Parts: sequence; C-alpha cells; structure tokens
Amino acid sequence: MEFNAPAGKNLFDTAKVVGKATPRIDGPLKTTGTAPYAYERHDVVAGQAYGWIVGSAIAKGRITSMDVEDARNAPGVIAVIAAPETKPVGTSQYNHAPLFGGNEIAHYHQAIACVVAETFEQACAAAHLIRTRYQRSDGDYDLAKAKPDAPLADGDKAPHTQGDFDAAYKAAPVTIDATYHTPDESHAMMEPHATIASWEGEKLTVWTSNQMIQWGKEALGKILGIDPENIRLDSPYIGGGFGGKLFIRADAVLAALASKAARRPVKIALQRPLMFNNTTHRPATIQRIRLGARSDGTITAIAHENWSGNITGTDGENGTAQTPKLYSGDNRMTANYIATLHLPEGNAMRAPGEAAGHLALEVAMDELADALKMCPVELRLRNDPAAQVPGNPKKRFSERNLARCLREGAERFGWSKRKGEPGQVSEGRWLIGMGVAAGYRGAPIRKSAARVRLEQDGMLVVETDMTDIGTGSYTIIAQTAAETMGMPLEKVRVELGDSRFPVSSGSGGQWGAASATAGVYAACVNLRRAVGEKLGFDGDSATFADGNVRAGDRNFALRDAGMLSADGKMTYGDFQKEYDLGTYAGHFCEVAVDRYTGESHIRRLLSVCDAGRILNPLSARSQVIGAMVMSAGAALMEELTVDARFGYFVNHDLAQYEVPVHADIPHQDVVFLDTLDPVMSPIKAKGVGELGICGPGAAVANAIYNATGVRVREYPITLDKYL
Ligand code: MOS
Repeated sequence: MEFNAPAGKNLFDTAKVVGKATPRIDGPLKTTGTAPYAYERHDVVAGQAYGWIVGSAIAKGRITSMDVEDARNAPGVIAVIAAPETKPVGTSQYNHAPLFGGNEIAHYHQAIACVVAETFEQACAAAHLIRTRYQRSDGDYDLAKAKPDAPLADGDKAPHTQGDFDAAYKAAPVTIDATYHTPDESHAMMEPHATIASWEGEKLTVWTSNQMIQWGKEALGKILGIDPENIRLDSPYIGGGFGGKLFIRADAVLAALASKAARRPVKIALQRPLMFNNTTHRPATIQRIRLGARSDGTITAIAHENWSGNITGTDGENGTAQTPKLYSGDNRMTANYIATLHLPEGNAMRAPGEAAGHLALEVAMDELADALKMCPVELRLRNDPAAQVPGNPKKRFSERNLARCLREGAERFGWSKRKGEPGQVSEGRWLIGMGVAAGYRGAPIRKSAARVRLEQDGMLVVETDMTDIGTGSYTIIAQTAAETMGMPLEKVRVELGDSRFPVSSGSGGQWGAASATAGVYAACVNLRRAVGEKLGFDGDSATFADGNVRAGDRNFALRDAGMLSADGKMTYGDFQKEYDLGTYAGHFCEVAVDRYTGESHIRRLLSVCDAGRILNPLSARSQVIGAMVMSAGAALMEELTVDARFGYFVNHDLAQYEVPVHADIPHQDVVFLDTLDPVMSPIKAKGVGELGICGPGAAVANAIYNATGVRVREYPITLDKYL
C-alpha cells in the first residue's frame, strides 16, 4: 500500500484505542523479570557454552605474537579462536572497523580472541591466560589537534551556503562568535550486547539484542560469507539500544564463529568494561557558531561549522543538522568537517547530529539574546520561519508548531519570573536561574511490513520484525491493530523481533513508532478486505467496531470470518519529498547553583512537544522523560575521557562514566501539543524518542548562565569550569 497524498479524515481521527494512555502490554513481563533478554534464553537451544571476548590492549599497531596454548589447555575450555589465525572479519555496510581483528589493530578493545568453555568462569579464567605481544604505532586521538586539517565530511565539496554570510555578518550591528565543545559519549545501555548463536548445518540462528533485524541479517550474511536467507535473528526484548544496537557487533560475529569452532551453541555478552571501547560511541564535536542580527533581533547571518572525528574518515557527529531548519535568516553557511581519528568507531547515538548540535546552537541563541538584551523566547519567536525551510527553500514544513511549544512552555513554566540579567536571583546560598532552548529532530519514515492473523480463539496476532527497545512498540502496535480491526486491546497479541516475520522499519532515528504502526495498519486494511471477501461485503467501507462488522444494513461478528491472515506493507510516495518532516519542542529548565561550592542542581525541566498524533501518551511521555534525562546528563556529566597518548576511553565502566540518577532531576514535565501531521503517515503520527534529547541540555546550560553569569562552552558543565 502506498501513502501518496496527505491523509484526509480517517478512522484514527475518531480513535478509541490509539491515542489513549495505555500501560505497556509487556510491562508485567519486564517488571517480574520474566521477559527473556538475549543472554537469558536458556531454553531456546540445548548445550549452550560460554564465550569470552578478549579486546586489544593497544589502539593502533599490530600483534606480534599471541600465545593461546595455556588457554586451550585450561579446565573446561572447548575452543579458542584467535586473531592471528584469521584475517580480520566483520566489516559490512554498517560498520568500518572489523568486529574481529586480524594482526592489524584498528582500535582499542577491538576483539582479538574468543575463548569458549563449559562455564562462564572457565571462559573468563582461560581468556586471562592468553599472552599477546604488540608492536604499537602512533595514532591520532585528539580532535582539537586534528581539526585544522580536517576535510569536509559526507563527500561535500564545499560548505553549504545561501546569500552572502560574510557580508551580512560584517554588516550586522549585533554579532556573536562562539565555539563549543561536546565530548565523546557512550550509549551505556543497561543490557549489554549479547548473543546466543547456534548452527544447524548451513543454517545459523542468533538470539541477540538488536534494533534492526533486517540490517543485522544482511550484515551477518556478508561478514560470514553465507546467504542471509540462512540466518535467523531473533530479538524480542531489548534492554536499551540508543543506536548502539542498530548494527550487529562483536558478540554476534564471535558467537557465530566460536559456535562453529566449538560445534556447540555459544553465548556471549560483552562484559561491561568492553562496551565503551569495543562498540561504537557518539563522537566529540567542536562547533563554531556565528550569528548576526539587527537590533530588533532579526537574524540576518547564521553560520555553523562543525568538526568531529572518526576512524572512518567519512562521517561523524554532524552538529549542524538542525541549523537549516530552526531559524530564518537570509545569509547562511553550514560546514561539517571530519578528521580521521584512531579511537573506536563513532556511529549513531540517540539523535545523532542534533543531540550535540543543540548544545551549541541553542546556547549561541541564548548568547545572542543576551547581547541584544532581549528575552530568549522572544528572539526565537522573532526568527521562527514561515512555511518554507530556511536552509532549503525547496522544502516546506509538513507541520511545525515550534512557536506554540515555546509560548505554551513559557506560560506553564512561569517564565515571566525570569530575570534577564544573570545572577540576580538567589535563595540563601543558592543562585537560581532559568533557561530555554528550542528543539528540532527530523522525523524520517521508512517502509514497514507486518502480518496479521485472526485465530480460532478470537485473538488477532500481529507479526513483524519490528523491535521494542524499551520504547513501547508492542503496545502502540497492538493499539493500531485493535483500532483498525475494531477489537479490544486484550484480543491482540503482538510478536516482534524475529527475522521470520515481515520486514519492518526497525527501531532507529525515531522512525519506529510512525513507520511500524503504518505497516501494521496496511496489513489490517488487507485483513479487513479479506474478511469482507469471505463474508461478502466491501471491507473498505464497512465499520469494524467492538469485535463486530457493520456493512450497510448487515451485521457480522468478526469471528464469523474464521481463521484468516493478511500481509501488508506501507510505502511512501514522492509527494513527501517536498516536505521537511520534523518534530519540535520548547524546553525549559530551572537550576540552582551553590554560590560557594559551585554545585549545580536541576530543579525543574519541562518539554512541550509537537510531534503529530501521539499514539500512546504514556509511553511517549516516558520516551521524552528518558531523553530529557540523557540530555541533562550530556550537559552536566557525560564524558568519555580520551587518553590522547594511548588512544582509548579511560572511563570504561558505569562507575566512572557518569549519568544522572533520579535525585539529579527531581521534577520533570512533558506536554504534547494536540497536533497532527497528515503528510507523515496515514496515522498522522510522529516519533518522539529522539526529540527529547534535542535541546534540554542547552536549556540547562542557559539556566546555569542565568544563575551565575558564567558561560561555559565546554561540556560537560562541571563546576571546575565556572568556579
Ligand atoms: Mo537511533 S541513534 O537511530 O537508534
């Protein structure tokens, strides 16, 4: 089914199930510890042996010798696979650094060996008997040092320009020119990367933890040199991904190889200390922003230059992503540069690009407001573009209510109490400040398929390889199917994450919610038609409600159709190319900073979001809350510390990689505007999983400035930087 024109009035406009706050249907399984995560799937195959991955102790250079004899002879050991015996394997269209190295080391903690034993403890103990000698060579690990020579990224030949930035900037009466630094960050999800692999002849099954089942199947086929059709991936429950599980990683590749060598099913979880250097991360950025404005606040010149580094040398963290979309301004320039660094591979982490970009642009806007002596909400409203995208006039916004987000947020937050001059409000030893930031995150949509089946017992089963990474996919898919088939939610059973099911959008780029539900809708439309064909009515014009069907003056019970199934797939027509599909938010923060110790506390965070139809306000709110916490963490705590001599992330565990806890953010609120996006999908919905990480951190930074009068442009904003 192709969606090829903006959606008119349809069944979702009078929805009974979609749009209602619904507790997640998989919640009881998760809270009782009975939802099986990859490593815990003890019953899927007998005889599981344990694998332990050894990571390289150098970042760059070569292995000169590896002695594995003691490991092979250690108690319980079944097999050892070691780098020097194999060529590097494990590159695909989705990852550049080999997931299992050969003699040449690509990055620190790159997998170089795997020990398989009867027990986990035996595998771990034996792995420590492997003696590896290296010849280390020099690498580039320091973004600031590499920056001057970094070429343009993404195959760009020149910066993106519009009008004449230089002339307009020179002529502007008010200007700011500021450079911001964001550090490398880790996904640090709760569930580590984990896989159980098992071969039956040529056929491989991997029970794993992965956001994108079809991508994983393709990549694993390429890496192992086998037909992807001989591979089954199964990933029904995922304990967080954040982009770190968009692609298969060393656990899957080595479990497959080790299982072959051991002639046994093998299970591997990346031990926590490997996760920070063995897998991917969000690359650090340096971002320079110049803004020129008339004294009334109208922006006339806007330039955003971004530098990041990656082992690929081709793409990194593009902080300029939101800048063409957010504010008007006739004269513009954006440029994205990439240095080759020999750190672990950088790749997508929740809202790649925008998450880091807002930490720069939205503080620069605050600096401009300050220079203009203007309210920062007012400045943003003054430069809110009309229908056309400022940095791409060929496109118009499908739906954009940023101004409403900012106005409504200001009203709810009590923004009028804020003092424009910093350092003016205190309560005893606490300096109090308020900050605002806007948020934009692209809302891509991808084709997605599903199968739906009416069973004898009156249940409707939905099957799709869509994943639920903790986001609530199970529930919104059940809601969509229930709504379309006119059935109660309890009569719908959802099966996800198995590559034997129809190929969905998967979970990434906040496209999952809108894309996967549209695919389920397409399948249900086909099922309605099939029911109609069987019972002799037109499935498109009939009304499906309460388990019954009304077709003209005839009534049927849906169960009269017996057992029936239908496949469906939603694809998208060219008309969408005229539009920019995006989500918007206004974020507000209040902080208190101890005037003597510098300790900062977030007191309140509010995000007002514009993201089309909200399929499930409960799980959508949880998504935004989690993202706001992550953004606040990026502002105040998160940082992978680079050892620029030896080329690795020093703080590679959860004791040293700091993220916020409940006590760090006592009060959070999320408000969704009642908007619809008829261009995005037939359901007029958009995702929110990444919107919430675009901007709150900048609101925190701006609040700290408002409290203290000190502007810190280097994240995380720890107290040593403003005391
Ligand atoms: Mo997201 S970073 O595409 O999982």
